[in-house]
Amino acid sequence: MKKKFDHVFQQGKSIFTEALIKNDKTFTKSIAKEAGKEYREWNPMKSKPAAAIMKGLKSFPLKKGMKVLYLGAASGATISFFSDIVGENGIIYGVEISERSLRDLNDVAERRGNIVPIIADARKPEEYSWIEKCDIIFEDVASDDQPEIMIRNADKFLKTNGFGMLALKARSIDVTKNPQQVYKVVEKKLKEHFEILEKVVLDPYEKDHAFYLLKK
Ligand SMILES: C[S@@+](CC[C@H](N)C(=O)[O-])C[C@H]1O[C@@H](n2cnc3c(N)ncnc32)[C@H](O)[C@@H]1O
Repeated sequence: MKKKFDHVFQQGKSIFTEALIKNDKTFTKSIAKEAGKEYREWNPMKSKPAAAIMKGLKSFPLKKGMKVLYLGAASGATISFFSDIVGENGIIYGVEISERSLRDLNDVAERRGNIVPIIADARKPEEYSWIEKCDIIFEDVASDDQPEIMIRNADKFLKTNGFGMLALKARSIDVTKNPQQVYKVVEKKLKEHFEILEKVVLDPYEKDHAFYLLKK
């Protein structure tokens, strides 16, 4: 295993996270074992941060022990890899609007111990105003107001010098425009609040998606 980022490794063309819990086969194609450690394969076809890493993201700020706000947690696939990376002393607040998805997420959280599932609308951060300030906000909600959701949550919960990571789905914002036009409009909005450190287009892993690394 070759270290790529904190707790993220590469072997051939695949990336892996160092597993927080042993023999966890959920959300992964394979588990690799090396020197008494286990590594879960992180599929870029099913997870946008993994796709961004495969597409050449130069820095990935998620680290051991961090506090993370994750918007659009769904059934817990990507958040389970974030959970591997932040480890047992980190914490991830996972916000999800769908009750059906939250039931699956609850199971993942119970097994892992560092995920706090929150049933709420990410457009209304006041619904979870009790959470603590975070080092990173990751957003993957596929709605028409994706930049506004990031801005609103960062204003409330992101530490100074904290990072935002936005997985942007262009077609959720405007299906009639080509994605390049959508990216331009979104970037103008983001720049009023963040420095855009990196942008990676996720095709062919995720069609018409871009991944932004932002700094407050
Ligand atoms: C593309 S999926 C997320 C996939 C997930 N991040 C993963 O990689 O495992 C988008 C999720 O955002 C949720 N969502 C959409 N709008 C939301 C909102 N306003 N607040 C919270 N969650 C929302 C949807 O229910 C859905 O589960």
